[in-house]
Amino acid sequence: MIYTPFGQTGCCVSEIALGTWGISGSGWDENSEDVRLDAIRSAIESGINFIDTAPAYNGGIAEDYVGRVVQKMGIRDKVYIVTKCGTEFVNGKYVRSCAPSVILRECETSLRNLRTDYIDLYLIHWPDASVPIAETMETLNNLKQQGKIRHIGVSNFSREQIIEASKYGLIEAYQPQYSMVFRSNENQMKWAAEQGMGIMAYGSLGAGILTGTYRKRPKFPPTDNRSRFYKHFKEPKFSRIMKLVSLMDVIAEVHGGIPLAQIAINWCVQKPFVSSSIVGVQHRERIMENCGSFDWVLTDEEAAILDAAIKLYLEQ
Ligand SMILES: NC(=O)c1ccc[n+]([C@@H]2O[C@H](COP(=O)([O-])OP(=O)(O)OC[C@H]3O[C@@H](n4cnc5c(N)ncnc54)[C@H](OP(=O)(O)O)[C@@H]3O)[C@@H](O)[C@H]2O)c1
Repeated sequence: MIYTPFGQTGCCVSEIALGTWGISGSGWDENSEDVRLDAIRSAIESGINFIDTAPAYNGGIAEDYVGRVVQKMGIRDKVYIVTKCGTEFVNGKYVRSCAPSVILRECETSLRNLRTDYIDLYLIHWPDASVPIAETMETLNNLKQQGKIRHIGVSNFSREQIIEASKYGLIEAYQPQYSMVFRSNENQMKWAAEQGMGIMAYGSLGAGILTGTYRKRPKFPPTDNRSRFYKHFKEPKFSRIMKLVSLMDVIAEVHGGIPLAQIAINWCVQKPFVSSSIVGVQHRERIMENCGSFDWVLTDEEAAILDAAIKLYLEQ
């Protein structure tokens, strides 16, 4: 594992963060609770010290799992836990509100679920235009003063929204979607990194499409996040991505048959403006595989070939 300073927070985080949306058990492949808890345990055992979760991930179940494993392993001071506010999952629906009373309630619930008395990094999950950002930030600043959260960040914000939020408090982290198949946030990620924010990219495996698992277009139920949230599995995008995946096959062979997921992870974290790549994964074997990403180096020439292919296949 490689560790890196996370912006100016003083935290030194693993360049792979564990994503827990799938582990929550809603909107992804179904696995037993034992498998999902074991995924968190094996990520920590493999050197991952950065864990991303949210109340929105199956109504707090992901947070509860993280809390249970971290407590049982007795390693609270060895991991950085990121959770979020402003989006909840109620009766199968995502409900957004950044109202102060909602955030205060959510924070207490997250602390309870996580079995901790502080959250390392607390992110506003999505912008909420119905609540003045000044009110939301004031609430977060108070939570920080009380020691319940250590750092404040945002996810899915535009550059303008980050600038506006920064007028009312210190934004130390930015979590956008970013992968070989989703680069539209790149300019504002570069800008945010220049401002000193830590950048954690989500969906770095393109919801799994960059692992080579799918060679024919899969059919997911409408509630599955691979059809509901991500757009990579719809035509014509799917066929275009398959051309990119074929190129990844060639690079994988050059490196002795490494898993394609490792190429996608390296491509992401080698970008100088990315601090850590959040990878959602529910299986111990896949976690070990992903954590092998830094056992080899994606050369500058290979990264440039991939960038050119992305431009050719996906950005024209
Ligand atoms: N802030 C936000 O709004 C936001 C939005 C989306 C996601 N996120 C965060 O970012 C995390 C990562 O994104 P994501 O989970 O949506 O997508 P992702 O990490 O791009 O892809 C997850 C998929 O990749 C599969 N996978 C992982 N490693 C693999 C390997 N080595 N070989 C084959 N398949 C592999 C997983 O399978 P299995 O799970 O079946 O093992 C899962 O189906 C989330 O879990 C969440 O914490 C944040």
